[in-house]
Amino acid sequence: MDKLEITGGACLSGEIRISGSKNAALPILAGVLLSEETITLGNLPHLHDVTTMIALLRTMGVEITMDAEAGVEINAGNVNNTTAPYDLVRTMRASILVLGPLVARFGRARVSFPGGCSIGSRPVDLHLKALQAMGAEITVTEGYIDAVCDGRLKGAHVLFETVTVGGTENILMAAALADGTTIIENAAREPEIEDLANFLLAMGAKISGIGTSVLKVEGVERLHGCRYRVMPDRIETGTYLVAAAATRGSITVKDTSSSYLEAVLLKLEEAGADISVGEDWIKLDMHGRRPKSVNIKTAPYPAFPTDMQAQFTAMNAVSDGVSRVTETIFENRLMQTHEMNRMGANISIEGHTAIITGTEKLQAAPVMASDLRASAALVIAGLVAEGHTVVDRIYHIDRGYECIEEKFQMLGATVRRVS
Ligand code: UD1
Repeated sequence: MDKLEITGGACLSGEIRISGSKNAALPILAGVLLSEETITLGNLPHLHDVTTMIALLRTMGVEITMDAEAGVEINAGNVNNTTAPYDLVRTMRASILVLGPLVARFGRARVSFPGGCSIGSRPVDLHLKALQAMGAEITVTEGYIDAVCDGRLKGAHVLFETVTVGGTENILMAAALADGTTIIENAAREPEIEDLANFLLAMGAKISGIGTSVLKVEGVERLHGCRYRVMPDRIETGTYLVAAAATRGSITVKDTSSSYLEAVLLKLEEAGADISVGEDWIKLDMHGRRPKSVNIKTAPYPAFPTDMQAQFTAMNAVSDGVSRVTETIFENRLMQTHEMNRMGANISIEGHTAIITGTEKLQAAPVMASDLRASAALVIAGLVAEGHTVVDRIYHIDRGYECIEEKFQMLGATVRRVS
């Protein structure tokens, strides 16, 4: 199994390019099931999760041609199977995103029930309730969700009792082909949902309220092909900026956007970073200073993203002061802190809050990644530790960070992949 070996101590400096967004690419790939015409996608990141989604589409009969220049050409004109099997769904929960598009276009879908994961139980009850409100009949047998619908789904009034990113995406896609108007209230407002909505508009969908918590979708009978470029990854962007701040460095990230990162950039400024932004770049400079501890509380967009929480705990572990980091979205997402304590961090947990007393330096240790963002946090901890840190189970990292060792090397860090 691959591991990352990190030699700490470098102050990050230089420039890197940010990849396309994983969390936008996955729903958009599921969305290609809504049309029989060819769709060309640009800026898809090379990540395990994207490969898994492509493998899932292929099992359904979707034709996919990769072209380095033109992007990825996808045609779902000959879908001959509407099942998402256990083997693929268990490696990637986002497979549930094919449920809405499949039942909307084919009137049936069978998707393995996604189980819990290391960060919490993560049910999909809200996805299912909303599809039922749209006329789908849903049964759960032998670990599979079966959704069937006689004719088209019907437009409905959906009120999500909790803000759910995947639920909003599934219903937005289903509503695009439904008969009548769907109103989605308390919709998640994450930028990736805006990207999905813009992709659906490019296919001919009729959606208003994009970027707000009330989405109105007038269903159409068919959607057509299009070309679409996936947005930059705001979490990858934020991860490298936090790594630079923790190492007292100065870096520029290119091919990205600052507009979706306000909550993160404000916290980095509070930590003492000098931030400047252009149309497609962000520069962070610590001027060699140690960061100051910052309090964090995660919440749905536009508040501070749960997907950036772990990285900030790593920065706070070496910052000046005491901080409180509170996780409100997932029940078990502070696991990286136990591994960081093995590296000399001073973190205690009270309920869903980590109380972090910053120390000047961490010490290298063998550590184990438990989920995607926790692994990124351990890499940051390794960068600020004395000695060689080995991060095990980095298949978690490969799910969401393209060429992580190359990108850190370009910023002057010593990071290598070992088997
Ligand atoms: C997406 C992101 C993930 C991010 C999360 C929150 C993708 C592929 N993943 O995950 O990186 O951390 O948003 O920003 O885009 N819930 C229910 N019932 C449901 C659905 C959700 O109770 O039917 C709960 C979940 O258990 C969780 C909370 O709602 O506690 C938020 O989950 P949700 O927004 O749905 O996250 P995902 O779409 O799974």
